[in-house]
Amino acid sequence: MEKQFLTVTDERTGKTYRLPIQNGTVNTMDLRQIKTDPDDFGLMGYDPGYKNTASCKSSITFIDGERGILLYRGYPIDQIAENYNFLETAYLIINGEFPTGAEYDKWSWNITHHTMLHENIKKFMEGFRYDAHPMGILISTLAALSTFYPDSRNIEDPESRRLQIYRLLGKVPTIAAAAYRHSMGLPYNYPDNTLSYTGNFLNMLFKMTEPKYEPNPVLEKALDTLFILHADHEQNCSASTMRGVGSSHSDPFCAVAAAAAALYGPLHGGANEMVLRMLKEIGSKDKVGAYIKRVKAGEVLLMGFGHRVYKNYDPRARIIKNIADQVFDVTGRNPMLDIALELERIALEDEYFVERKLYPNVDFYSGIIYQAMGFPVALYPVLFAIGRTAGWLAQWEEMLLDPDQKIHRPRQIYIGKTHRDVPRLKGKKKSEAMA
Ligand code: CMC
Repeated sequence: MEKQFLTVTDERTGKTYRLPIQNGTVNTMDLRQIKTDPDDFGLMGYDPGYKNTASCKSSITFIDGERGILLYRGYPIDQIAENYNFLETAYLIINGEFPTGAEYDKWSWNITHHTMLHENIKKFMEGFRYDAHPMGILISTLAALSTFYPDSRNIEDPESRRLQIYRLLGKVPTIAAAAYRHSMGLPYNYPDNTLSYTGNFLNMLFKMTEPKYEPNPVLEKALDTLFILHADHEQNCSASTMRGVGSSHSDPFCAVAAAAAALYGPLHGGANEMVLRMLKEIGSKDKVGAYIKRVKAGEVLLMGFGHRVYKNYDPRARIIKNIADQVFDVTGRNPMLDIALELERIALEDEYFVERKLYPNVDFYSGIIYQAMGFPVALYPVLFAIGRTAGWLAQWEEMLLDPDQKIHRPRQIYIGKTHRDVPRLKGKKKSEAMA
């Protein structure tokens, strides 16, 4: 393809520059040659929140936000969710292709055999108060795991990276389940290697005194699909955090802990928890109109609505709505659904939301399903984190192997005071003035 250029004229100097365009972007380092004089630092880009700045090249996930398309490694999310399980999807996201039979056996064996936690980690978790938020427990425990696996700092070694990937995919559900059991005052359950990834997670959460836990197949499939839908979403806040922390060559346990911390916020993965709290606050279908008025007055956000990238229906929200029906057949209908449907109906017709292209996102319906399945509200972001761990690890490894990548270190526009001398402490010695 013929080389493409952007020609710009700097009106301060009258000089013209030809900046190469590659993949629909200009490299902002090319702006630095644009100076008013040789001592000038050169032009920079300014983009708080990275609304129009690509931080990397990636071949993991593609989103077309205008058309509501989501592809993992080129495959549409609805086809994946219908035909594959979460572990196969995690393999696809991390390795680029779906596994063959033999590859899958090795992959799932390795992940299954890294689900146990060191007994000392359990003691560490016991130190949390009974009402500790499970995301706080997850984040801290992930960081603590780094002290158990100092070999994980060996990030240049592909075999070591693979081992950490097995460990993280294996242990995140175990920590998540232990965080739940801790909040309920229940003993932690050991993993059951005869169950599926998601079946085992349900076992670690809900097994009581029965000798063997048998997960309900509909709920197991529903939760597994939710993990698939959450597995990756290109350069979102937590993936960027994973890449940013990983770019200083921290070990992956600390980087995943940081990514989970980013996910926790209510504008990101914490939104599913906030949706349920919002629906509870609204209370009934007839109060939806009044709540929408408050949203439009700028008093509150409509949680679970809006997205930086999607300016159309989030394709994951569509799939989740179908899962909800299957789950409610088993658990009974969640009364919150009527409030949610009414909110969606009014919002999709209202000019405020139409103008701003605000549609339900993945978090709008996931919480209603989690609630029907018996999960406490505070656990919802933790469930998001289980699926997203696959994406974080794929983004981390891609970043490490990309020769273009450097330590993440943005520039700033300094708007503070220029150089000035400290005020003289008149007539007093410094020691007296401090007394
Ligand atoms: N309720 C009411 N108004 C909203 C909402 C909302 N949920 N989201 C955006 N807006 C308005 C916003 O006030 C702004 O209006 P104006 O132009 O008058 O100032 C306009 O829409 C554009 O919004 P923005 O804040 O500039 O958009 P953003 O891309 O910076 O933020 C977002 C994206 C997801 C943080 C935001 O839509 C939001 O806060 N949503 C609620 C929280 C939520 O559901 N988060 C989960 C996102 S999906 C899961 C994930 O992948 O993280």
